[in-house]
Amino acid sequence: MELFDVYPLFDIQIVKGKGCHVWDDKGTEYLDLYGGHAVISIGHAHPHYIEKISQQVGTLGFYSNSVINGLQQELAHRLGKACGYDDYALFLINSGAEANENALKLASFYNGRTRILSIQKAFHGRTSLAVEATDNAKIIAPINANHHVTYLPMNDTAAMEQELAKGDVCAVIIEGIQGVGGIQLPTDEYMQALRAACDAHDTVLILDEIQSGYGRSGRFFAHQYNGIKADIVTVAKGIGNGFPMGGVLISPKFTPVYGQLGTTFGGNHLACAAALAVLDVMEEEHLVENAARVGEYLIHELKQIPQIKEVRGRGLMIGMEFEQPIKELRLRLLKEQHVFTGVSGTHVIRLLPPLCLSMEEAQEFLRRLKSIL
Ligand SMILES: Cc1ncc(COP(=O)(O)O)c(C=O)c1O
Repeated sequence: MELFDVYPLFDIQIVKGKGCHVWDDKGTEYLDLYGGHAVISIGHAHPHYIEKISQQVGTLGFYSNSVINGLQQELAHRLGKACGYDDYALFLINSGAEANENALKLASFYNGRTRILSIQKAFHGRTSLAVEATDNAKIIAPINANHHVTYLPMNDTAAMEQELAKGDVCAVIIEGIQGVGGIQLPTDEYMQALRAACDAHDTVLILDEIQSGYGRSGRFFAHQYNGIKADIVTVAKGIGNGFPMGGVLISPKFTPVYGQLGTTFGGNHLACAAALAVLDVMEEEHLVENAARVGEYLIHELKQIPQIKEVRGRGLMIGMEFEQPIKELRLRLLKEQHVFTGVSGTHVIRLLPPLCLSMEEAQEFLRRLKSIL
């Protein structure tokens, strides 16, 4: 059997990682400004993470959600404190798409409605409702095109208020910072008006912090810059530093109902051990603060480079937009300078490094980038 060929691959096999560096099978070292797509939060192969996961797999890797799992309870308490949503409840699953799927489902159970508002260029995952809320016709299969979703222009308060005023909207789903869409930031004014309009019309406000959350923006959640709270927050990627996991943070206004949500693997012992180790390291090494500090430096320095048309972002979630397509530049960064980066569309290079990126590593990246511009 061969692999189902859906990924355009670089001809590189990564076999080892440490901190913000990865190595291929030929021994070449790369600086990782991509974090395996915003997944690596505390750095590759962190010793504490290795120890906690190894201990757990040697004790109990999995048991079902039909018995008490103390690690889940500990994770809920710790995460609530770390992110400032300590009166919310946590539901655990295995991926970002599942987190959004459950968030949208919960919203519909709550107010009985079926219309969703999403934002133009949004990405929310590849499963049924999550993909329908994703503004990319190419990945919405006919079976997923069920006309639940209206896409709104980002930061257009009047358009948003007009749709919500119809009174039939189940939920608005919005990324804390748009990632796939090219690192686009919602304004404070827009987010505050959105919060008010959702309250006025009993619409559920879902913040997708799967890419922008878990400290990446320099705050625990990117929407915390906007001075609002969500009814539901979805997380994944950084929560497990590579261990597949997702979470739904749920306001006390939702009443849990036995059997309404559920999963076999979600919140298993091994995943919880990974997520607890991530929180330990984030706190011990002040990684949210590090993302803010190193990110601010990087953004400032990138803005001085005349060849870059625009630099957008917060913390260690940064988009560099170029006048010309970036395909060639990204390939040179990888092949000649041994730097991994991400992309958004054809003109934006996306930086999503581990949150432990040091000032020296940021400077090293700037040096390598400038040498080929
Ligand atoms: C903002 C956002 N939401 C949802 C997802 C889907 O997450 P997953 O690939 O874990 O299903 C992603 C993944 O890139 C994302 O960036």
